[in-house]
Amino acid sequence: MATNITWHGNVTHEERVQITQKKGATIWLTGLSASGKSTVACALETYLLKLGFPAYRLDGDNVRFGLNKDLGFSEKDRNENIRRISEVAKLFADGCIIALTSFISPYKKDRDAARKLHQDAELPFVEVFVDVPIEVAEKRDPKGLYKKARQGIIKNFTGIDDPYESPEHPEIHLHTDKQSVEECVETILDYLKNRKIIG
Ligand SMILES: Nc1ncnc2c1ncn2[C@@H]1O[C@H](COP(=O)(O)OP(=O)(O)OP(=O)(O)O)[C@@H](O)[C@H]1O
Ligand SMILES: [Mg+2]
Repeated sequence: MATNITWHGNVTHEERVQITQKKGATIWLTGLSASGKSTVACALETYLLKLGFPAYRLDGDNVRFGLNKDLGFSEKDRNENIRRISEVAKLFADGCIIALTSFISPYKKDRDAARKLHQDAELPFVEVFVDVPIEVAEKRDPKGLYKKARQGIIKNFTGIDDPYESPEHPEIHLHTDKQSVEECVETILDYLKNRKIIG
């Protein structure tokens, strides 16, 4: 635990919003591997940027190349992975950027902690359940991970030998077996407009 530390502040979040004329938020995509989190987040990021809204994607795999390269996939490491991402996403949101996180984030407790972190700072947190039946995800298997998990080469794989706790009250519930990527992006954009996060 760090001691003898003091929070330094200068510009408040409200002042930042006033100066930049932009609102930050965290869009938290959760769902099984191959449900489409990264695909939807990439498309949404491009769309938001083209519309002139600063957006930045924090993606499960990418973050594990750098910031979280010291973490594995045990429950403890997954907790720490999500905790760090929650903190980073919150910083982006505070900086009036729309943070798009795409992590399986299988445990409700971790997602709720991310939500609380944002709520305490009065920053919007939008939980998006990227839902798909596991059979469909397993058939897609773009990275060959389900195959390896079935063969026992990968252990603790969500949906196979590790649980996925579905969100009970997500702000947005997508079904990527029935909705196209474009429809998923539209659904999220409509929500952001209704909440006046984007104009
Ligand atoms: N409606 C859809 N939305 C998103 N992806 C779709 C959809 N329909 C088909 N797909 C396909 O499903 C796959 C989803 O893979 P993607 O890497 O986005 O999943 P992920 O949830 O990020 O998985 P992981 O947790 O392993 O990173 C892609 O090959 C994508 O083209
Ligand atoms: Mg992904």
